[in-house]
Amino acid sequence: MFRSFIFVLIFIGVSYCCEKFPNGTETTLNWFASCPSKATIYTVTTSDANGNPEYPIHLGKPLPVHVNLTNNGDVYQQLKLNINIWTWGGWSGCSWHTLPTLGMLNNLDACSYGVPCPVPKGNQAMTLTIDFSKFQNIIDLLQDDSPYQVQMVMTADNGDQVCATVQARCRIH
Ligand SMILES: *[C@@H]1O[C@H](CO)[C@@H](O)[C@H](O)[C@H]1NC(C)=O
Ligand SMILES: *[C@@H]1O[C@H](CO)[C@@H](O)[C@H](O)[C@H]1NC(C)=O
Repeated sequence: MFRSFIFVLIFIGVSYCCEKFPNGTETTLNWFASCPSKATIYTVTTSDANGNPEYPIHLGKPLPVHVNLTNNGDVYQQLKLNINIWTWGGWSGCSWHTLPTLGMLNNLDACSYGVPCPVPKGNQAMTLTIDFSKFQNIIDLLQDDSPYQVQMVMTADNGDQVCATVQARCRIH
């Protein structure tokens, strides 16, 4: 009786278990634009520090994020950068769960993360360098070789925004 109860528990546990890498992130990085914007994003790619393609991506060292976009808004003198992170998990359904970053990744100055300021109008390529190694408290919350969803939100003084979300398999060390 007790044994079959255990079996049922194990069975529920297994069927409830999520795929480890959702949405194809085991082998590919996903990205999508994630707020209404006057800018159109064409591509988002990541690389290692030397510009070479690398997957899984490494969050424990500076990560160059290359964005090709066309700015149909104004010339922006400065942009604030907010970064949101989600972990993937199963306790309340297989979904992305917000990682509490305690505001550490809010109100960063995008211009000092690689965005060329002022940001001109028109088509351009920019490379944001996301460096979580400056935030050891955040690195400590991350598990090695796991999927993470990271959203970069850039906001201008007049409220215009451009946002990109990336889902990727991540190494930490
Ligand atoms: C999966 O990735 C695609 C982009 O490759 C994205 O458009 C879609 O929203 C993602 N699906 C989920 C459930 O996150
Ligand atoms: C952005 O991508 C488009 C389409 O691939 C390309 O024509 C354009 O030259 C790229 N822009 C920059 C600034 O690299």
